[in-house]
Amino acid sequence: MKITNILLVEDDESFRSILAMILTGEGFVITEAENGLIAQDKLNKETFDLVITDIKMPKLSGLELLKWIKESKSTPVILMTGFSEILKTQEAYDLGADEFLPKPFEPEDVLGAIKNISTESNQIKNTDVDYLYCKVDIDQFITGREIAYNVYVRLSNIKYVKIANKGQDIPADRIPTLKSRGVDYLYLKKEDYKHYVGFTLDLAKTLNRSTTVSTEKKKKFLHQTGEIILEKLFVDGIDQHAFSQSKDYISTVSSLLYDSDDAINSLMRLYDHADFVYVHSLGVSMYAVMIANKLKWTAPRTLFKLAMGGLYHDVGKKEIDRSLLTKAKKDLSQSEVALLETHPIRGVDILGQLDGIESDIVQIVSQHHEAMTGYGFPMGLKGNNIHPLARVISVANVFCNVALPGPRHKAFTAPDAIKHMTDFHKDSLDITFFAALIRLFNLDPATYLGKDFDSDLKKVS
Ligand SMILES: [Fe+2]
Repeated sequence: MKITNILLVEDDESFRSILAMILTGEGFVITEAENGLIAQDKLNKETFDLVITDIKMPKLSGLELLKWIKESKSTPVILMTGFSEILKTQEAYDLGADEFLPKPFEPEDVLGAIKNISTESNQIKNTDVDYLYCKVDIDQFITGREIAYNVYVRLSNIKYVKIANKGQDIPADRIPTLKSRGVDYLYLKKEDYKHYVGFTLDLAKTLNRSTTVSTEKKKKFLHQTGEIILEKLFVDGIDQHAFSQSKDYISTVSSLLYDSDDAINSLMRLYDHADFVYVHSLGVSMYAVMIANKLKWTAPRTLFKLAMGGLYHDVGKKEIDRSLLTKAKKDLSQSEVALLETHPIRGVDILGQLDGIESDIVQIVSQHHEAMTGYGFPMGLKGNNIHPLARVISVANVFCNVALPGPRHKAFTAPDAIKHMTDFHKDSLDITFFAALIRLFNLDPATYLGKDFDSDLKKVS
């Protein structure tokens, strides 16, 4: 549709005049209105091709005006909005707003929005765009600092709206209100999210390889991943909120792998070779992220490294015969044990073939069987010489081995799993991280580790 006549509704006179001047300069015919009531009056007397309106105005708000227009006319509406109006943005979308302009905006943004309306076909309008964005927990924005990327809010699977521009401050005092009204996540474009968490796989190199995985196969695999998380990794008594947050986080990290054939291929092969190892790896990834949250570690890069480390920690097992992986431990010969214990090093080799995996993730994979006592493998590292993230993964690994059902044993309840870990693994685990795991189940670490475990900790450090 051709757009010429525009009704511009804005109570801030100087802002309205500047915007009117810009649009007039672009050849549009602009009629100004200083509030919704005046706009209604003008719309009753004249036909416009488009209405651009602010949300917050005296007398009749932008939302009331929008509702009135959508009930009685077919005029498209662009809403000028902002971070502080996230909730109203969703309401405006539900009422039928056609486009959104987050304040402050540049002249090209408003021209882009007008162009979208004049050219928008139904096909573009109805395209699923979820795959282009990644969720970020809203708590991570409680910083008051300048944000490094454009921030979006998800209105539906076909509509995301930019709510804050790169370089802007997020008003920290708004966050608790938003959370209390059910806004748990904000969104970044996938490419920005990769920078945000430090995902630096070199895609140019991976695309040149011949191991191309079909889109359908990848989609199916990621779908299965979501189902596995829900069906196989929940342990009774876990903090439900922490579980659901961690589930979302692992799904997001997994979806980043979608763009890298080599990275997703190595996990898919692990799944084909021994699905129970992949299920276990997802579990370790999730419980490691939950332990980190319990420790109040919120740095996105740290959580990302833990999630990736968990996903890949046992990837070396895809090179070991499946029958060995399922054989009862008591029936393994010495040479079989030695072969099994090569899996961390094999994992490091596999990761070495993926360009751009960070060294912390490689260390997680190589050290996840090291023990605080120095009697782990493959290097026999002791105490603080073991990478701290590998120590978190190690706690999650032992817990998942005990609590989740596997080819070698049935599942344990959380208290039984923790009791078993206390009896048989306590000395080899990092006690701080073990205590955080115990707290995840609303249990008291002192019951298992003794009431002096905190002071024991101080002695160690
Ligand atoms: Fe392992």
